[in-house]
Amino acid sequence: MRVTLFGASGLLGHDLVPELSGEHDQLTALSVEDADLRDHAGVRDVIRDSRPEWILLLAAYTDVDGCESKRDLAFAVNCEGAVNVARAAQEAGSRLMFISTDYVFDGAKRSPYQVNDARCPTSVYGESKARAEEQLLNILPEVCIARTSWLFGHGGKCFPATILKLASTRPEVSVVNDQRGSPTYTPDLASALVKLCRANAQGVVHVTNSGNCTWYDFATEIVRRSGLPAIVKPVTTAEFPRPARRPAYSVLSPDSLHAYNIPMPDWQDALRRYLASAPTASGSIVP
Ligand SMILES: NC(=O)c1ccc[n+]([C@@H]2O[C@H](COP(=O)([O-])OP(=O)(O)OC[C@H]3O[C@@H](n4cnc5c(N)ncnc54)[C@H](OP(=O)(O)O)[C@@H]3O)[C@@H](O)[C@H]2O)c1
Repeated sequence: MRVTLFGASGLLGHDLVPELSGEHDQLTALSVEDADLRDHAGVRDVIRDSRPEWILLLAAYTDVDGCESKRDLAFAVNCEGAVNVARAAQEAGSRLMFISTDYVFDGAKRSPYQVNDARCPTSVYGESKARAEEQLLNILPEVCIARTSWLFGHGGKCFPATILKLASTRPEVSVVNDQRGSPTYTPDLASALVKLCRANAQGVVHVTNSGNCTWYDFATEIVRRSGLPAIVKPVTTAEFPRPARRPAYSVLSPDSLHAYNIPMPDWQDALRRYLASAPTASGSIVP
């Protein structure tokens, strides 16, 4: 496949770039210096020059709390930037895969969200991605929107890395126990996204590791597996208010992914593999 990827320097980009670097693929991996999503002409030029069969749009302003105070920036990058890419894709005749988020939902459900459940974001970040989804579906009806959640991996800051750091320096770590979702390991996600492209996927697809947990459950498992002595204490979101409201429940149904016969490992197995390759605070490798 000939692929142009926006967001190469990010957490997910770190694992998608190698996934598309084999001899059968031709990848143009772009960072913000190569093309800022807000620059319509620049985006159009890189797409025209690279003539991709697929465009993978991972680039986004992902600071969920930062988006609350920088609404204009959130919409300029996440929504208008995505529209710039979609228009350029249309001109070039390229397929587009847009990476979206569980935060397009409000979390009021108690059973997994289906791809056609109504969007109802509660944060500026979620709203910017939800509006982008709607506009992209209008501009490019064959777009593929891959919603994912709770990413972790070795390409940037993530929850397990933070917990490992805190648990190695403090006796107790407080973690919210009233938000439930599916942690997703970026190498597993990258592999599934490429399979979706090869399968010519279109429409909305939910792509996460299987199973679900609260952030407290996730942290407990990280500390237990790493053998650190810290105690993980469950707390409520109300005790730790943040600028952006997060959904209390944002588990995404895997049905849409199963339709493409793409299985995903469970999040505990993904965490085991992450820890097996994660340097600890002391510089050694966690078994
Ligand atoms: N992280 C999660 O838990 C999570 C959950 C659900 C969905 N997602 C979605 O998954 C995708 C990948 O997330 P991620 O965690 O890999 O994000 P990330 O680590 O924050 O990386 C975002 C990438 O976008 C680039 N970028 C930012 N502003 C840009 C602009 N104006 N023009 C061009 N590029 C720009 C960044 O470049 P610089 O590094 O140079 O700034 C970076 O390469 C995003 O679309 C996100 O919304 C993430």
